[in-house]
Amino acid sequence: MKIIRDAKSLKSERAAMEGSVGFVPTMGALHQGHLSLIRKAREENDHLIVSIFVNPTQFLPGEDLDKYPRREEADRKICELAGVDTLFMPEIGELYHDDEVKLKAPSYLGYILEGHRRPGHFDGVVQVVMKLFGLVQPTRAYFGKKDAQQLRILQKMQEDFFLPLTIVPVDTVREEDGLALSSRNVYLSPDERRRALSISRALKRASKMVMAGERSAKRIKETMMETMDEIDVEYVEIVDRNFRPLEEIKLQKSIVLVAAKVGETRLIDNLWL
Ligand code: PAF
Repeated sequence: MKIIRDAKSLKSERAAMEGSVGFVPTMGALHQGHLSLIRKAREENDHLIVSIFVNPTQFLPGEDLDKYPRREEADRKICELAGVDTLFMPEIGELYHDDEVKLKAPSYLGYILEGHRRPGHFDGVVQVVMKLFGLVQPTRAYFGKKDAQQLRILQKMQEDFFLPLTIVPVDTVREEDGLALSSRNVYLSPDERRRALSISRALKRASKMVMAGERSAKRIKETMMETMDEIDVEYVEIVDRNFRPLEEIKLQKSIVLVAAKVGETRLIDNLWL
């Protein structure tokens, strides 16, 4: 596995690759969720590039940029074992320039729900992902369905800018007890972790209700809120694939979204129906 830290070397490495290139952009602290993206990308492409970059522009002032988990050595080993060809780990100056052109997330999709709680977050995400796409020029790029809104915004970016690549959504990976994997789970104390489980329990209840024939978004949201009475729920929303709120569940077309604070840790999770 080649480790590359500068943009110029990545460009020449990429230029020498023939065939398809899979790309998994990450912020490191890799877990099984990232591994499922990496494995899928490995299976589907001739070459595999992973990036690790904790992107400052997607963190709001007061968020966890400084304490975001950084585990370079462990991440390197994970990538090596997973068959990554090229690991790109740039310093900030390799990616960001003075007075640069700025991309903006869509004014609806980028500023509702997660974007409403974290205004400007998705501007930073599209900025860095566009840069990484420019450098890596992937055939396919892999993103988790856990970050459903990010995934939709990046699909829109690909469509709106006619980018010659395919965005591949990958299912959420969960612990055995249901907790969705996230790099931020390491912040949870044992008691917070126990309380955080109510999020996946609420989503499971929603799924059971829908399987039993319930279609009212209001009734499903009420039941979910009852299940999550030990945590600070920021929102429970049921939306279509373009994130327009739904009153009635439409099968194959709906996503149930949850964001909650458990202690100081903000968690998101969702269910694709
Ligand atoms: O999902 C993430 O880890 C980040 O938002 C991403 C896509 C790597 C951009 O920094």
